[in-house]
Order: sequence, then structure tokens, then C-alpha cells
Amino acid sequence: MSVKLTDHEKALADGVHGKAKQKAMDLLIRYADALGAERFCETNNVAGVWTVSNPILRDYTRNGMDAVFSEFNLDSREVVETPHTEAYSCQLIQGVDPASPEMREATGDAADLQKAGEAYFGKRGVAMFSTCTPYQVGNVPVMGEHCAWMESSAVVYCNSVLGARTNTEGRESTGAASITKRIPYWGYHIPENRRGTHLVEVDVDTDDIMDWGMLGYWLGWEVEEDIPVLNGKLISPSMIKLKHFGAAAASSGGVEMYHVPGTTPEARSVEDAFSGNRIRKTLRYGATERRKTYEDLNSTAKDSAVDFVMLGCPHNSIEQMSRVARVLDGRKVSASSALWVFTPRAIKDVSDRNGFTEIIEKAGGRVYVDTCPAISRQMPKGTKVTAVDSAKQAHYLPAITGAQCWFGTVEDCVDAAVTGQWKGGLR
Ligand code: F3S
Repeated sequence: MSVKLTDHEKALADGVHGKAKQKAMDLLIRYADALGAERFCETNNVAGVWTVSNPILRDYTRNGMDAVFSEFNLDSREVVETPHTEAYSCQLIQGVDPASPEMREATGDAADLQKAGEAYFGKRGVAMFSTCTPYQVGNVPVMGEHCAWMESSAVVYCNSVLGARTNTEGRESTGAASITKRIPYWGYHIPENRRGTHLVEVDVDTDDIMDWGMLGYWLGWEVEEDIPVLNGKLISPSMIKLKHFGAAAASSGGVEMYHVPGTTPEARSVEDAFSGNRIRKTLRYGATERRKTYEDLNSTAKDSAVDFVMLGCPHNSIEQMSRVARVLDGRKVSASSALWVFTPRAIKDVSDRNGFTEIIEKAGGRVYVDTCPAISRQMPKGTKVTAVDSAKQAHYLPAITGAQCWFGTVEDCVDAAVTGQWKGGLR
């Protein structure tokens, strides 16, 4: 079966609107057919990747940014001219913070490649937010809006908290969607596929970011790619807590959608969240599950001397920047440790104006934008032991770098940076 095309889509596929859009439509048709999608839906919201910041890909940039776009966004060896975007589109996280002298030194000409890409694709309409949290800096789709987003933590937030609709797309499909305004109508675009499958009874108070991260991490292992409906002792869910919860659930499992009845927009009640779906399984999260999850997240850590503390995965909000500055104010990062805080560039601007950046930097910490350690592969030289406040980062950082990793609250992490010692624990 082949995907059905509208007249406009046929014209795009026939090249009436130019070579690049023809290549994009060809890619999307192959993609839709592989998925078994019957049709496309129109999207005006794309979050993807256009730039390159890996020097290994320098050869492509030598042939111009059109070669990058053709190869990596359209899957085309033939180089075609990059048109202006048709859909509202934004760049996700990148490989390097170009304002950081250390990162510039460590990554060769990566920053220059990245900046050249920003200049080229920016002029063609891609908003250079450069963050894994586009919803924190202005890309906030409305409920029911069809989107084409990459980045698992952003996808689960988009579906669950905003009630917009996206599957986890790739660089090619987002690139093609940005210039055609089309994405296969499949998966989470279809209302019936957004109903709850598992009921989760939370029997233990879940309040701080750390608690929400642990709950998400446990849940991802339990439900994998299904749709949990959370009920019970969930204390004041907020953007930050749900951001950490979803990021963790998407890391240990493949959760792309969840419901918190009374909080997330497609579930006014538990019944509403299931919308007639049979509850496949009821899961319970209590003190035993919480402790086991804490132990799992700290399973790589043995040495109490901490070399590197990382905060801001997913990228910090301004409220989180304020919290870090408040905890750190008047203290000094230990000579034996380093503190790096990651936030979107637009939020750093506010953090600068609020004086939060100054407080962090006066204490000896650093504030970075555009990237994170998991993407840039950058940490202070010689790091053996890290500490993080993010369950997602605790999942990836040891696997990517081989370093030990402690997981705890923001306060535990800042204390570790100041004393050089991990003293956190489960409270
Ligand atoms: Fe963002 Fe990097 Fe974490 S992309 S979600 S800060 S691993």
C-alpha cells in the first residue's frame, strides 16, 4: 500500500516546487510507506538539526552548506539548493559552546563549522534556539498541533505536557518536513494511539526534581514504550519536574507520552486518560521501588571525591538557574572539582541580567549554552567522578565517558562541587 497524496503533495513530488522539495517529498513518501501511514498531515512546527559541529564532517561543509543539507536532511547525494523553510522550524542542541575558550580549544574547528551552519540555515528560517528544550524558549505548540520534533526529552514533553502531537523524528524527516510542511500521519498523530495503557499508583511522596527523575527512570524500565497514567502522591507537578520526569522515562524506556490526570491536557481524570482503553497493567511505585531506583542511578559511583558536577540536563530553566545561584551564593567551588551549568542561550541572557551567571562564575562555576557533555563529549580533563541532578544524565554519562556518576538533588550536587566530596543520599 502506498501513501495517498493530495494534489499539492503530488506537485511537490513532481518537482513543481523545486528540486529540494521534490527530494524531501520523495524521502517522506518512502518513510510513510515504510511506516504504513495512509496519508500525511500538515505541520507548521519542526524541531530538528541542520548544522554540523563535528570536524569529521568538515568535508561536507567544504562543499558548502547545501551539501550538508542535501546529505543529512534530505538523504540525497545530489546537492540541491537549500530553500527557505515553509514550516516554523527550530534548531535543537548542538555540539559545542562557541563562546567557551576551553571547548573551542578541545574541539578544533567545530565551533566555526557550527557558526557557519547557524548563519546559513538561520537565514533560511531555522530559529537558532540550540537547545534540547525548545519549549522553554518560545517554541510552545498548542494542544492538538501536529509537530515534527526530534530529541526524546522534548518529544515526550510535547506530547504529554503540551498535548501537541509528534513522533520521535530524525534529522532527515524533520529536514524534509521543514520545507514541505508534511509528516506521515502515524503513531502519536492519531488520537486513538494517545490513550493510556498502564495505571501507575504512586504511593510515595514525589516532590523534588530528584523524586520526579527517579519516578520517570523507574517507569521507563517498567512500561518501555507504552503510555503510563500516573495517579497518587504527585506533589505540585511543574514544568521543571515534568521535564525531568519525561527525560528520565524516555531514557530508561522509550516513553513518548504519559498522562497525569488533572495536570496534563488530555486527561481530566484517570478514566479520561484511558478513554475506554483496557488497563493492561497496574504498577505500584513505593518506598522499595524508590530506593532501588536511587541505588541503580548511583550504581557506577564508588569514590566520594568528585571531579566534575554537571547541572542542566535537560537544559536549565531560569528558575533552575536562580536555584543554583542561590545555593552557591558566597561559596567557592573546590580547587579539586568543577561545576558546569547548562542552559539555553536565551535563558543565559536572562540569567546574565539577573546576576545569576555572575554568582555562579564568581564561585568558580561555568555556565555553558548550545550543548551538553553527552552531546559535546566535553568534560574537564581527567574527570573520573561526576555528580548530576538529572536521572537522564546519570543514565548516559557513565556509558558515554566511562566516568563514575553520583545522582542527587541540586543541593547535593552544589555541595559536592564546593567540598569536592559526595555526601548526598536518599532522604
Ligand atoms: Fe539535553 Fe543533553 Fe540532557 S541533549 S536532555 S542536556 S543529554
